[in-house]
Amino acid sequence: MSSNPKIWLTREKEEYSELSTPIYDSVNAPTWSKEYDKLSVIYNDYYAPTWPEGPNLEGLISFLTKFSGGTNICEVGVGTGNVIGLLYNLGYKNFTGVDISPKMMKIAKQKIPGLITIEQDLREANYSEFDWVIAVGSLYNRISLKDKKELFLKMYNEMAEGALFFVSLRIYKYNYDFENDKIISGEEIQHNRFVLNYTHEWISYDSYYGVGHYLDLKTNQSFEYAYKTHVISGQNLINLVCDAGFKHIATGAPEDTGYYANTWVFQK
Ligand SMILES: C[S@@+](CC[C@H](N)C(=O)[O-])C[C@H]1O[C@@H](n2cnc3c(N)ncnc32)[C@H](O)[C@@H]1O
Repeated sequence: MSSNPKIWLTREKEEYSELSTPIYDSVNAPTWSKEYDKLSVIYNDYYAPTWPEGPNLEGLISFLTKFSGGTNICEVGVGTGNVIGLLYNLGYKNFTGVDISPKMMKIAKQKIPGLITIEQDLREANYSEFDWVIAVGSLYNRISLKDKKELFLKMYNEMAEGALFFVSLRIYKYNYDFENDKIISGEEIQHNRFVLNYTHEWISYDSYYGVGHYLDLKTNQSFEYAYKTHVISGQNLINLVCDAGFKHIATGAPEDTGYYANTWVFQK
């Protein structure tokens, strides 16, 4: 299998079935949750909605709230509750968070009284009760193409008629520089508080392994966070979700939502 990321850059029009890469399995799930537990230490500050240089979650929320429903909301990969915390502040009720990291969800529970938390892999969760299912930044991490296909079919089979599925993912090609077979290392300094050094290496042409080295300048604490990511283009994601049976009803581009990522809306 080729591992040249430049090939991926031209893959927008290709069939996603060609992009399969069997590199993940659920055997490694306990290790992944430990990685997110480590990240939770700074995640809430690093990506907090009030953060001037962070993603503009208010823009994302104003996009989401244009849609009807939201009477029973599930966020998969809920993390520290930054997204549904804002919906809660607007008066939305009945929230369930699914996440593999108990430490992330512990912070989410402090923001959203009554939040039901389910410590589970999102591939195994049950989606039958919700009229909104939201996935922000949680569907690429470690979820292979094969698992994505199975997940979307499972969600479609379980979700109620008319229920909405919101997916927000980065558009990777705008976020990284490419150099031969590797994504070159980068350094980001955020709000004079965190220094993030990251290195990424492609392990197949649509998946990479990355390590983020975080330094908190305020506490002088540092740690590393490792992850694998299956990269999927926006069009291929739409095809995949629609092949499972959903209708694609809207797209919120970053310029519409003010958020750093595209948000696609699907309906059963
Ligand atoms: C980048 S964070 C996003 C958190 C939150 N959605 C937000 O936007 O602030 C990704 C979250 O997804 C969770 N996650 C990753 N893979 C998962 C999986 N397979 N099942 C459940 N949760 C997962 C991680 O533990 C982490 O909390």
